[in-house]
Amino acid sequence: MSKEAKLELDGKAHTLPVIVGSEGEKALDISSLRADTGCITLDESYGNTGSCTSRITFIDGEKGILRYRGIPIEELAEKSTFIEAAYLIIYGDLPTRDQLRQFSELFTEYQFLHEDMKYHFESFPSGAHPMAILSAMINAASCFDDELMHWRWGKANSQFNIYAAKLMSQVRTIAAYSYRKSRGLPLIYPKRAYKYTANFLHMMFSSPYEDFELRPEVVKALDLIFLLHADHEQNCSTSTVRMVASSQANLFASASAGVCALWGPLHGGANQAVIEMLEEIHREGDDGSKFITAAKDKGSGRKLMGFGHRVYKNYDPRAKIIKRACDDVLSKLHVTDPLLDIAKHLEEAALKDSYFVERKLYPNVDFYSGIIMRSLGIPVEMFPVIFAIGRMPGWIANYKEIMDDPKSRISRPRQIYIGRALNHYVPLEERK
Ligand code: CMC
Repeated sequence: MSKEAKLELDGKAHTLPVIVGSEGEKALDISSLRADTGCITLDESYGNTGSCTSRITFIDGEKGILRYRGIPIEELAEKSTFIEAAYLIIYGDLPTRDQLRQFSELFTEYQFLHEDMKYHFESFPSGAHPMAILSAMINAASCFDDELMHWRWGKANSQFNIYAAKLMSQVRTIAAYSYRKSRGLPLIYPKRAYKYTANFLHMMFSSPYEDFELRPEVVKALDLIFLLHADHEQNCSTSTVRMVASSQANLFASASAGVCALWGPLHGGANQAVIEMLEEIHREGDDGSKFITAAKDKGSGRKLMGFGHRVYKNYDPRAKIIKRACDDVLSKLHVTDPLLDIAKHLEEAALKDSYFVERKLYPNVDFYSGIIMRSLGIPVEMFPVIFAIGRMPGWIANYKEIMDDPKSRISRPRQIYIGRALNHYVPLEERK
């Protein structure tokens, strides 16, 4: 294959190198385009733009493939755990037994928040969305660590291991506290004996008098949800994290920005939006048909939430795994949920409908994840928070990738200005 592309502009020929990824993906390297031609490229919402090269996650959207560090998501979902997958994503290889133990010990060591952070929790109004609390408190947590505030990449990289574990561990504590705060419940401290996901459930649902019963199927289902969300290459929130990190902001500030980007209903907020959509369909006694009709009408302002993806033009592989897990968990917990029937009917109808077929719109990870989380007793406003906890390793790995790259520069896109040409100030009394 040719290693260059030719571009003719104003009668002059230019060559652009072709970059080929390890799975054969191709990109035109336009990094010298503006210097050579005076032109930039325009690609609103970045459908055709690679913002970086990365070694972390591979997606083939046409074939429905997702791999973390080369390992298929199906294998990890079956054989691994969230924490092991987090290590893989952040450091590039599966951990040895010792590495996994050390990694887990760091989580235990840093799982407590500074006690003064309780006052910050208290200042949020009850009913504050937990994503707002999460983002604010991740940033606040960095203020309690003087070294982190003054840490710059390239300097004392061994500190990175501590900050990465601290962020992942504390995010779970903050998330559980934000839920307890929103319900006016006393805060529950993490326990040394519990592993990552069990500890989160404990902090969410135990009471000061009685520990929450940690049913293995519940712990496993939530761990799987975390694992399936752990990374997804250059999505909106990860690109935000990389953008913020490129200015050399600290890891916590970058992750806090990621939470804000994730919050929207087109991204990590979709799992909440799916349940709200299914509840509305249920309330109205619709079997989903009316909603599908509305979702096809651009003027209705409706969309089939949990369907479609910028990259997947095939079944999202995470959705397949989650759908199976959903059936499994609900049957083990003896839960029947009318929303599951509506979701299945919606999926079946949409997959036969020419609107969805022609646009290659398939269920994504969020379509069934909310139903599992409901069955575990997780309230709907916490769904995007669960996504954020899961996505933390991906954000950390992307942060590290930037940090480790000596050629990394601040991200700074350009624009094509389409506003008024030169215009002049008119004094107030002369304005019409
Ligand atoms: N319902 C109805 N129509 C849709 C939907 C949907 N869920 N998704 C896309 N379309 C239409 C879209 O209007 C466009 O129609 P047309 O060609 O007539 O203008 C066409 O399908 C192609 O859309 P697209 O360019 O592929 O969409 P996009 O890449 O701009 O947006 C998306 C991707 C995920 C934001 C979008 O599909 C969507 O809003 N889905 C619902 C929200 C959702 O489930 N988000 C979670 C995504 S997965 C979790 C994550 O990683 O964040």
